[in-house]
Order: sequence, then structure tokens, then C-alpha cells
Amino acid sequence: METVMISREIRLASRPKGTPTAGNFLLAQSEVRPPQDQQVLVHNLFMSVDPYMRGRMNEGMSYVPSFELGEVLDGGAVGEVIESRSKELKPGDIVTSSYGWREYFVASPKELHPVSHGIQPLSVYLGALGMTGMTAWAGLKLGEVKAGDVVYISGAAGAVGNVAGQLAKMRGCRVIGSAGSIEKVIFLREECGFDIAFNYKVGPVVEQLKIEAPDGIDVYFDNVGGQTLEAALSALRVHGRIVACGSISGYNDENPQPGPSNLFNVITKRLTMKGLIVSDWLDRQGEFEKEVGGYYRAGKLKNKETVVEGIDQAVGAFIGLFAGRNVGKMVVKLASHSEH
Ligand SMILES: NC(=O)c1ccc[n+]([C@@H]2O[C@H](COP(=O)([O-])OP(=O)(O)OC[C@H]3O[C@@H](n4cnc5c(N)ncnc54)[C@H](OP(=O)(O)O)[C@@H]3O)[C@@H](O)[C@H]2O)c1
Repeated sequence: METVMISREIRLASRPKGTPTAGNFLLAQSEVRPPQDQQVLVHNLFMSVDPYMRGRMNEGMSYVPSFELGEVLDGGAVGEVIESRSKELKPGDIVTSSYGWREYFVASPKELHPVSHGIQPLSVYLGALGMTGMTAWAGLKLGEVKAGDVVYISGAAGAVGNVAGQLAKMRGCRVIGSAGSIEKVIFLREECGFDIAFNYKVGPVVEQLKIEAPDGIDVYFDNVGGQTLEAALSALRVHGRIVACGSISGYNDENPQPGPSNLFNVITKRLTMKGLIVSDWLDRQGEFEKEVGGYYRAGKLKNKETVVEGIDQAVGAFIGLFAGRNVGKMVVKLASHSEH
């Protein structure tokens, strides 16, 4: 008789209105059948929660399909192969996948990306060496960031922001970051090497930028949008660049706020604003892994993360992103390596 695994998973129970609440989600169980020919069974060790998932909880297509009501969510995960019926992977291999929000799953090797065990913690493949690290790396390329630039990064203590700042420092930039608490400001200054960091909650960003960057900025790496984008438009120098990466300040708005009142700066200062979608850069993943993986292995790049334990805590971790409960990448630990 074949053994059926029981896997706990998180389903979308209802579409959030405004900020998501625990009631929008359901912790449920499903049966996972043994792998068939050319398939493997994977036990997830870590799963990612990310701000972009909020958009997928709304109805209608954005740049990724929306989550289906009543269905298990998906997202980035790192797991261990525990049973294999494929020559390409063997038990004990570590793989990344988009089968997050569940404990076990069956997939074919072509849906999985094998990674080295040698790099620890394995959650780094969701952070500095994963999707968010790659977003930071791609964003600096998109913004043509070069030595000597003054680069301002919002959401700087988060997953994308802290890596963007560390990489910009390695490129020889002067780096300014903003984040939502004094602990995060200290983290940016003392652990990530930011030249300047400030708390955007203690006063208007436009005023703080006037003090911290009196001669203006060359690049704005935008993770939050809203009033912070408006402040950066004022601070940018002639021919400045904006990397439009995220706009988290508006993700839970039921009625979107009007755009920046000072967009005219784009004309007067001849600014360039480029939108970034990290999946457009997948054909350069090898280049990213070589360069940024090299920095990590050499101890030049810090992988800061906030780890929450257990699938029953995953929803809280996701909601926590909108309250700034993470420093670095927010990840959920589901199991330890090689429990089998
Ligand atoms: N374009 C792409 O391909 C791509 C890929 C990945 C991520 N992104 C975007 O990049 C941004 C950062 O993503 P991440 O994964 O690195 O998340 P993250 O920064 O690790 O986590 C979210 C952080 O956003 C901040 N935040 C929450 N609400 C805010 C508000 N109303 N105003 C200002 N800050 C707020 C919080 O930090 P504080 O304590 O500092 O407020 C929170 O810790 C997001 O906008 C995300 O959607 C884009």
C-alpha cells in the first residue's frame, strides 16, 4: 500500500480589504501522494513571505496571476528532496522552488533549482542569494549605478534594501538609507556600511534628505513609493535616475493615493525612471549567483534575516511585513535539514 504524506498548507480564505488579517487565510491539510516516475518528493525547510504576494491576493491579473480563493498559496521555498524517482535528483539534495506555503510537495526536477548544501544558512537562497538579493543586484544595474554616485534607498533595512545598499557600497557609492525604527537605522550604519541612515517616521523625508544630502542624490532606489518617492523627486540632481522597484506604502490602500505632486521634476531635471521586475532578469541568474554568491562566500556580504518558526506562524510573518516587523529578509522555518 502506498504511503500518503499529510502536508499542512496555507490557503487564501478571502481576499483582503486593506491590510490583510489572519481571517483571510486558512491553515489546512492535504494529502501528498508518493512521487511518480520522473518526480521527487520535497520537504520544505524554509518558505518566503514577500510584499508582492499582497497584490496577488487581489482579484485580477497584475504582472503575476492572482491567487485563487480556497487554494493553497505559492511562493519561494527551499526544500530537501526526501524521495526521488528521477535520476536528476537524489534524497538529501537541496532545491529552491515556487512551492512555498506548504510542508511537502511532489514535483518534476524541471520545476526545481538545485543549490549547494555548502552555503549556510540555507534560507540565504530566499534572501541575499535568492529573489530579493537578485532584485537588489538587478536594480543597481538597471539604474546604471556607478562609483561616486549618491544613492538613496528606501525600505533600506528590508530584504532588497539592505543588499542594494551593501552592493552599492562595494561599487564605490555614497549610500543613504531610510527605515522605520532606530534599531534598523543602527543596523544599516553599523552592520551594512551605509554612510547615512535615518528613521522616516521621525520627520518628513524631504526635510531629512535636505539635511543628510544637501547637494542632492544621483539615484533613488524606490521600495516604498508614496511620499518617499515625492521627497526623492525633490532631492534628485539633474540627470538623476529612479529605480522603481516597489511601492509598499500603497499596497494595502483600498483607494490608491494620487501620484507625486512634483512629477514635473522629471522634466526640469531630465530624470529617468525605470520599472524593475526581477523575473525579467532570469536569464542572468547565473551571473548574479556567481558575483553575489562570491561576495557572500568571501564574507563581504551580510545576509540578515528575521526567522519565524512553523507554518502556523507564516500568516503572521506575512502580515508583519506591513508593520515593519522584519530586519532583513523575513523567512519562515518549516523544518530542519535532514530530519529523515
Ligand atoms: N520589482 C521587483 O521585481 C521586486 C522584487 C522584490 C521586491 N520588490 C519590492 O521591493 C520592496 C521591498 O521588498 P522586500 O521583499 O525587500 O520587503 P522588506 O523590505 O523586507 O519588507 C517590507 C518592509 O517595508 C517597510 N514598510 C512597510 N510598510 C511601509 C510603509 N507604509 N511605508 C514605508 N515602508 C513600509 C517595512 O520596513 P520599515 O520598518 O522600514 O517601515 C517592512 O519591513 C517591496 O515594495 C516589494 O514589493 C520588488
